[in-house]
Amino acid sequence: MLKNKDLLGLRGCTAEEITEILDGAVQMKKFLNGRDRKSDILAGKSLVTLFYENSTRTRCSFELAGKLLGASEVNISAAASSVQKGETLMDTGETLDAMKVDFIVIRHPMAGAPKFLAEHVKASVINGGDGMHEHPTQALLDMFTMRERFGKLSGLKVAILGDLKHSRVALSNAFGLNKFGAEVRVYAPKTMIPKDFEKLGVKIAKSREEAVDGANAVMGLRIQLERQKGGLFPSLSEYSGFYGVNDAILKYAAKDAVVLHPGPVNRGVELSPQVIDGDKSLILEQVTNGVAVRMSLLKLLAQFRENM
Ligand code: CP
Repeated sequence: MLKNKDLLGLRGCTAEEITEILDGAVQMKKFLNGRDRKSDILAGKSLVTLFYENSTRTRCSFELAGKLLGASEVNISAAASSVQKGETLMDTGETLDAMKVDFIVIRHPMAGAPKFLAEHVKASVINGGDGMHEHPTQALLDMFTMRERFGKLSGLKVAILGDLKHSRVALSNAFGLNKFGAEVRVYAPKTMIPKDFEKLGVKIAKSREEAVDGANAVMGLRIQLERQKGGLFPSLSEYSGFYGVNDAILKYAAKDAVVLHPGPVNRGVELSPQVIDGDKSLILEQVTNGVAVRMSLLKLLAQFRENM
């Protein structure tokens, strides 16, 4: 049983809660791959996706997850909403509450915006990515993908390469994987490693080879050009040459290693095209798993709400 009405980050989740979501996603994936994809688990419930930043995967997969389980679903993009007329986040939240919305999935450029919203609405708030803070459902689907492939998370060596400074995916994965005893190594230009990052229990590698050595999973992170003021690395080609994932660097990983990326990928920058389309890549499997994980989360939050 989840302990909160909201999912704001993995820092605040227990290993038991995460396991419950991942276990539920196993069943949801069978349902997703099946022929009869109709369910009324969320019949009568409503889900709003409230996105102040662009998204393809997170938004679509929440919308599909809700629809597949029988919920009504509405999307609000900030560009086409009353936000443009100056409406505050709190007023938007209270407006959605007044419409008896059950779930609000929010993506916002400000870290902490989902928490602020959650404190002011009755609906369950799910963080779809907030600033440079967390992206919990991305990490959940990453963890599901690794657990599905290797049967466990404990003891896995996970190398995360790239823009750690701007990455909410890296932070949520560090919080989540640590709770299961996985070994997380990171490697990035020094300008892209947040202060005190090692205090999260991750190992900051001195080289790409050291990070990837014996790794079971190698995760590339998107260069978040939109969040950078520039000057963090000399050029994209140098970035890909020194920090990217290619076939040569994967020779250091475990034989059965897999490659993950949250997407969208800057082809040829974080990952070489050969790696993206190669047999180690689970990038599209991650997308499928994202729907299953979000279905499981919505079902569990709905159960929590029944007992509120
Ligand atoms: N991984 C991820 O959050 O992708 P979107 O920006 O497409 O949602």
